[in-house]
Amino acid sequence: MSDAEIPLQGGRTTPSIVRVGQTVRRPPRLTAEFVHVLLEHLAAVGFDGAPRFLGTDDNGRDILSYIEGEVPAELGWHKDEVLVAAAQLIREFHDATVGLLGHQAGAPRRLEIVCHNDLSPCNFVFRVGIPIALIDFDTAAPGTRLMDLGYAAWLWLDLGDSDIGIAPEEQRRRLRLFVAAYGDEISVSSVKEAIVYRQELLTAEGDYTDRPAMAQWARHCRSWTLKNL
Ligand SMILES: Nc1ncnc2c1ncn2[C@@H]1O[C@H](COP(=O)(O)OP(=O)(O)O)[C@@H](O)[C@H]1O
Ligand SMILES: [Mg+2]
Repeated sequence: MSDAEIPLQGGRTTPSIVRVGQTVRRPPRLTAEFVHVLLEHLAAVGFDGAPRFLGTDDNGRDILSYIEGEVPAELGWHKDEVLVAAAQLIREFHDATVGLLGHQAGAPRRLEIVCHNDLSPCNFVFRVGIPIALIDFDTAAPGTRLMDLGYAAWLWLDLGDSDIGIAPEEQRRRLRLFVAAYGDEISVSSVKEAIVYRQELLTAEGDYTDRPAMAQWARHCRSWTLKNL
């Protein structure tokens, strides 16, 4: 019974992800080799907030450890304690990746860490209401802390969502909280710039890849951010 394949719902982009016992099987993306190295590095430095890479199965799928908990299907409102835990976990993840990039001769120093690049709450496993691990490393790549933080702040605070209707002043307070929890050497104004930059990138990606709904959402969020944050 333990090798029954149970489809995992909730992901938005990768079809046919299944659970098999205490593992997850995932069709590898083109970046698979980098993701394997990254997950092995995170394990080697003792970072527990990511799945372990356990090899490849007979069908060529990645085998990852299954992390027990809940993964939100949608964005939404999160209380302060949760925002703080998420920002701290992102900080730990970033810090754990520094050693992977090393300081190879000729490597651009601006690529200071590995970005996850999709730090939405929908890619975090929660336990007892608190985010304890990141999943879905398909888009991970060398980058900067701000690139990841801008995107994470946008989605964790759900900036620009009129359905949850959080007042601009409250969103500004939540942003300060989120940034401070990551680490006080990062300025709120630099994160604001990064948020707008990520919103512009996603708008362009939606336009260029013919995903109008995504482009429209990102464009709306950018307007909201420029006006209110
Ligand atoms: N290592 C894991 N541990 C627990 N659940 C996982 C794991 N990997 C994926 N999942 C579950 O599978 C769903 C889809 O996985 P994800 O990697 O986020 O794919 P997608 O690219 O479609 O977003 C997640 O929402 C989560 O519920
Ligand atoms: Mg996902």
